Amino acid sequence: MSNNPASAAHPGKTLTSSGFYVSQDTEIICENPTPTPTSTPPDVLRCAYMELVVTDLAASREFYVDVLGLYVTEEDDQAIYLRSTEEFIHHNLVLRKGEVAAVAAFSYRVRSAEDLDRAVAFYTELGCDVRRAPSGFTKGIGDSVRVVDPLGFPYEFFHATDHVERLSWRYDLHKPGELVRLDHFNQVTPDVPRAVKYMQDLGFRVTEDIQDEEGTVYAAWMRRKPTVHDTAMTGGDGPRMHHVCFATHEKHNILAICDKLGALRRSDAIERGPGRHGVSNAFYLYLRDPDGHRVEVYTQDYYTGDPDNPVITWDVHDNQRRDWWGNPVVPSWYTDASLVLDLDGNPQPVRARTDSSEMAVTIGADGFSYTRPDDEAEMPEWKQGEYKLGHQL
Ligand SMILES: [Fe+2]
Repeated sequence: MSNNPASAAHPGKTLTSSGFYVSQDTEIICENPTPTPTSTPPDVLRCAYMELVVTDLAASREFYVDVLGLYVTEEDDQAIYLRSTEEFIHHNLVLRKGEVAAVAAFSYRVRSAEDLDRAVAFYTELGCDVRRAPSGFTKGIGDSVRVVDPLGFPYEFFHATDHVERLSWRYDLHKPGELVRLDHFNQVTPDVPRAVKYMQDLGFRVTEDIQDEEGTVYAAWMRRKPTVHDTAMTGGDGPRMHHVCFATHEKHNILAICDKLGALRRSDAIERGPGRHGVSNAFYLYLRDPDGHRVEVYTQDYYTGDPDNPVITWDVHDNQRRDWWGNPVVPSWYTDASLVLDLDGNPQPVRARTDSSEMAVTIGADGFSYTRPDDEAEMPEWKQGEYKLGHQL
């Protein structure tokens, strides 16, 4: 058995004993780059909140508050403002009532008020639709800039926000599946290298990606705060929102959410997991809300804040990249995602991915061989599918 599954596949990168590659080189070849603005980008602190349009506010409240336990900062008959246990800004999630389930904003907090001027200049130079609301677009958030970015996503930047109580010490309120922080967004876009180049111009750093031996990039994870990511770009028809993710403290919190959903006879809300990711090393669970918006619950990724933090590249044929235990990725996880809106509230048109799709190259096309390349001929027939349990689709 070889410990060296594809040593020649990714030149310039070092194969680790864990089976992925590391490098300091985050340069990705992009055939259709967005122009690099001359303006300094805004200094982004972190992903801060998502504004989700939901079609049934009561059903969404039941899911996010009663089942998942997010805290209500404010609510009225049009919108609910929710936060996680450790949050001190007004909200991490806005549920807004609307006709079409979609994402109205991926919102980032910036370091200072001046960074909003920088955001205006940066996106104006890119020719984007740029709007500024000095009193904010949502309750609890001050001066804000919203743009439709070069990839078609509604991005927001803000600094001023109402402070609310951090509930970390309120153990009397905590539940077994406590969601403690907003961790990241995940976006679906047809051209991942183009997305990475634009996000690098915006000041984000790549921490991990998935490539094949030809250099096709299937997904990339990028960060401002010193974790694996604030957002990830997943290759597919887009622009669409793949998921929004909240962190728990421990793995057992995620198991408790599964137990609760089972007890409520709501196990159909579980789409994928629980499991251990290869990418990010985090323990994970994917849920679908009443409108089909995907929510991840996640814990225990790693610190990435040093300037020479190694960039990890996973081979797309490594069947442990998406699940470290080799469990299959359900097809809906690759194909389903939420629409995103322009700044007038209209759904953005979805463009098809032209590069190979990760699902196409890894489900049904893979052998189990990548993990142990010399073993395939010895495997019983029933095991010679793409995953350890054989052909499941
Ligand atoms: Fe995620």
